Amino acid sequence: MRSLITGGAGFIGSHLAEALIARGDQVDILDNFSAGKYEISGSRIVRKDIRDDSIEDDFYSIERVFHLAAAPDVKLSLSDPNNTYYNNVEGTFKVLEFMRKKDIGHIIFTSTSAVYGNAKIPTSEEEITAPISNYAASKLSGEAFISAYSSCYGIKATVLRYANIFGERSTHGVMFDFYNKLMSNPDELEILGDGNQEKSYLYIKDCIDATILAAEKQTKSFDIFNIGTEEKIRIRRIAELLCSGLGLSPQFKFTGSEAWKGDVKLMLLDISKIKALGFSPKYSFEKGLDNYIRFLKTS
Ligand SMILES: NC(=O)c1ccc[n+]([C@@H]2O[C@H](COP(=O)([O-])OP(=O)(O)OC[C@H]3O[C@@H](n4cnc5c(N)ncnc54)[C@H](O)[C@@H]3O)[C@@H](O)[C@H]2O)c1
Repeated sequence: MRSLITGGAGFIGSHLAEALIARGDQVDILDNFSAGKYEISGSRIVRKDIRDDSIEDDFYSIERVFHLAAAPDVKLSLSDPNNTYYNNVEGTFKVLEFMRKKDIGHIIFTSTSAVYGNAKIPTSEEEITAPISNYAASKLSGEAFISAYSSCYGIKATVLRYANIFGERSTHGVMFDFYNKLMSNPDELEILGDGNQEKSYLYIKDCIDATILAAEKQTKSFDIFNIGTEEKIRIRRIAELLCSGLGLSPQFKFTGSEAWKGDVKLMLLDISKIKALGFSPKYSFEKGLDNYIRFLKTS
């Protein structure tokens, strides 16, 4: 099987590339290296933007596209909505056009739990989508174009709505933010919001297992899967575990009731649909965090 991974130099994409190569797949990577920096050995790397029309001349015999390239930061989507729009909406549209012209039959798209907004939990795939951030809106637009291209041009589509993903190589999200703050001031930790936000965090290796499983076991021509864990963790608890893993005991400083505009305070996905395909997370939050802390300390 020959797969193209857009965003394959980034956090999740680089792990996915390694996992596919380990299975014996041929892997092509398309990344503009705006955020990613990993050049996975055994892959064929094209250093371009997903919106660049010339990519049509760069790839041959691709059977499926894992489309991960995106501006993934919710907070930044508030201060720079143009960047979110061009990378995520226009970018996804261009990837679909590339696939249509090259007759590539399957897209696997990394969407987000944020498309549900402040929904009741645990949130199933049937729940109404109601984005409260530009990032979530951009991902939902991507899903809509994918649904249309699947229906109009027969492209099989696997939409994955990820919870928060964490682990080695991650360069955004709450743990990375806390770690950097603690490295510059080990005596005080600023926690955005009141620390009572509760969300689901899935370790990267489990995320990759679920991603490949969904891509390979899906039977319908278009389907959506929630990818996450069955437990939620309070932000304050993450701060405590991270500090204890680093041997620090800083003073916590909370910024107020809302962490940032567009933050979903309570997030837990109903993952029974991906479990029915055989998925079961293997890593506890604590084990995943230990691995991530070890990575942060040595990188
Ligand atoms: N990390 C999470 O918690 C999480 C949760 C839900 C969904 N997702 C989605 O998973 C995907 C991967 O996220 P990540 O955490 O690995 O982020 P990341 O920033 O590490 O990876 C994104 C990669 O895409 C590349 N890229 C960005 N814009 C590009 C463009 N226009 N052309 C070519 N390459 C481009 C970047 O250089 C980077 O290598 C994203 O689509 C993100 O929205 C991530």
